[in-house]
Amino acid sequence: MLLEGRVALVTGAASGIGAAGAQAMAREGAHVVVTDRDGASAKTLAEAIRKEGLHAEAIEVDVTDDAALKDAISGTAERHGRFDILHSHAGIQVEGRLEEVTVEDMDASWNLNVRAHFVGAKAALAPMRAQGAGSVIITSSNSGVQYDREMIAYCTTKHAVVAMTRQMAADYATENIRFNALCPGFIDTPFNKGFETQMGGRDKLEEYIGSAIPMGRFGTVEEIAAGIVYLASDQSSFMTGHALVIDGGECI
Ligand code: NAI
Repeated sequence: MLLEGRVALVTGAASGIGAAGAQAMAREGAHVVVTDRDGASAKTLAEAIRKEGLHAEAIEVDVTDDAALKDAISGTAERHGRFDILHSHAGIQVEGRLEEVTVEDMDASWNLNVRAHFVGAKAALAPMRAQGAGSVIITSSNSGVQYDREMIAYCTTKHAVVAMTRQMAADYATENIRFNALCPGFIDTPFNKGFETQMGGRDKLEEYIGSAIPMGRFGTVEEIAAGIVYLASDQSSFMTGHALVIDGGECI
């Protein structure tokens, strides 16, 4: 197994990509700390993982609460005596152009899509440094490497977090602490509800996906989870500062 004996913490892990990544890491032998602002759903997922005979626990964490996020990470490191993987995943998508997006929405996007990753990565550093290794995976999006229409808050913050990830990778490479960004394209999860409404319903969204994505379909959470396991494990041991795009060719 690729992650035997490793300790991983995932934010925004109760649904979608975060949940699939948490499950996949547990199936590779990791002890996974499932965190989400929806504590009940986080608990349900951790129980489901344990029912498979694997290792997981749940903590309710809203990533915009600095103290709660820091405590979850340092508490995990203390309880388990190690901290190997942080998948900092929770994010927010606010649609609109400059004239539609409010300053408050821009601040909320920054807080979740950049600032919370900064706070989480900062908390993960000490235990990773103590053990001389670590993998920090920060969820950006393919909107972090291309420009979408009418998505100023999302595109700007998702680009910013790729820049931050690459900067951290450069600063900590000598300590074997790796930082990579995960850049999914359209993955069929509740996260796209807002865009679905913007497009005029599910049928219109599927029509759009069929024509706009070169591979002609949504990606699955399992296809992204495979990328998460790769970035978390020693399979990517010489990779840092990378933005891993998994998007069916959308940003070609
Ligand atoms: P999802 O909607 O299935 O799950 C998001 C989870 O995050 C939920 O369980 C929710 O409770 C939790 N969450 C939301 N705000 C939170 C907060 N403040 N603190 C803690 N937890 C919070 O979404 P999915 O598909 O897993 O996507 C989430 C992340 O993936 C975002 O960063 C998004 O930008 C990124 N992403 C998603 C894509 C997609 O098509 N689904 C494509 C590209 C990026």
